[in-house]
Amino acid sequence: MEPTIHHGLAGVYVAPTDICGIDGEGGRLFYRGYDINDLTEATYAEVVYLLWHGVLPTQAQLEAFRADLLPHYPIPDKVMELLHCLPEGTDPMHMLQAGVAMLAAFDDNPDEVDPDNVRRIGRSLVVQFPNLVATYDRIRKGKEPLEPKSELGLAGNFLYLLNGEVPNPAAVRVMNTVLLVHAEHGSNASTFVARASASTLTDVYSAIAAAVGSLKGPLHGGANEAVMRTLEKIGSVEGVEPYVMDTLAKPKGRIMGFGHRVYKVLDPRGIILRNVATELAKESSEAKWFEMSLEMERVMNREMDKRGRQIRANLDFFSASVYRMLGIPVDLYTPIFAVARVSGWMAHLFEQYADNHLMRPLLKYQGERGTPFVPIAERG
Ligand code: COA
Repeated sequence: MEPTIHHGLAGVYVAPTDICGIDGEGGRLFYRGYDINDLTEATYAEVVYLLWHGVLPTQAQLEAFRADLLPHYPIPDKVMELLHCLPEGTDPMHMLQAGVAMLAAFDDNPDEVDPDNVRRIGRSLVVQFPNLVATYDRIRKGKEPLEPKSELGLAGNFLYLLNGEVPNPAAVRVMNTVLLVHAEHGSNASTFVARASASTLTDVYSAIAAAVGSLKGPLHGGANEAVMRTLEKIGSVEGVEPYVMDTLAKPKGRIMGFGHRVYKVLDPRGIILRNVATELAKESSEAKWFEMSLEMERVMNREMDKRGRQIRANLDFFSASVYRMLGIPVDLYTPIFAVARVSGWMAHLFEQYADNHLMRPLLKYQGERGTPFVPIAERG
């Protein structure tokens, strides 16, 4: 019988999960049963705890969790030295992938995949990802790296390390929301890569480095940078409609930040970030990018409705203008996605290692068989 090919593994289930539920038709997202909209009331640390433990923490459990993160805050000296050695212009996603490998090299026990060790490494990575991204940004700008301030929490410490000043509560709230909406999303490409890597029983660092590489692509986490580069190229609200029409008229023309493998309606995380952007735009000198985004959404919705297509804005579409209004450099947009998503990747690694099956799909070979071998001297 001819095998069925599931291009892009669309519609294929590879494992049961308790972590994340997505209703692509209804536009709803649940972390461990909680609607993402309700979770925006929580801190990012609470959400990490929820993803990792299956329940929201009590105050005492949250404090114990924060205490468990404390020893992981300092950036190892040797890792700091290595960050200084990267050539000018190194893409922060390449830095991050290398950074994960560096952390493995300086870990005394990087390879064991028993639950305690995996959780220990998870605690380290959830703290070290923001440290690496923000510290690298300072170093490449010729600024002195800062000592992390754990008392500011995960979102606050990240902003502090990026900007060099203790952030105001409103900025922390925005970063908190950004981190928690990006934290987890089922079997997206990078999470699948993390799980597929871990299914060989390779170590956490290797699986996470692979996931970082997968996230970088413009069809996945790299889309947020592609959205801003597109808006920069267009340059004005008036330029949006002609750009969208021209792009859609081209064969395979794509508007970055629209479309999703699972959502057939507006991504619920997109709605949350559009609301965040609406608030930021009231006081921002960079509100233009958000106004252009709203215009792009208007034109895309109109055109997709005409064509009967369910291609709507996704998470990466509105995150781009949020980051712009926060003053974040464009090439840090995808690293910020990674800073958040590492918590989701880790939740999936706990699940994968606990009930492991080697992931090994098939490719349908369609080439020749039995081609006669011709020695090199006789090949024409
Ligand atoms: N703009 C215009 N058309 C789009 C589109 C977009 N952003 N996204 C999908 N389409 C069209 C494709 O051209 C294709 O059309 P066709 O059936 O006429 O050939 C159809 O929709 C299906 O696209 P496909 O790429 O096969 O679907 P998918 O489920 O694999 O795609 C994405 C999902 C995310 C890869 C895709 O929507 C995309 O490339 N979006 C832009 C990148 C992006 O924002 N990524 C972040 C995702 S969170």
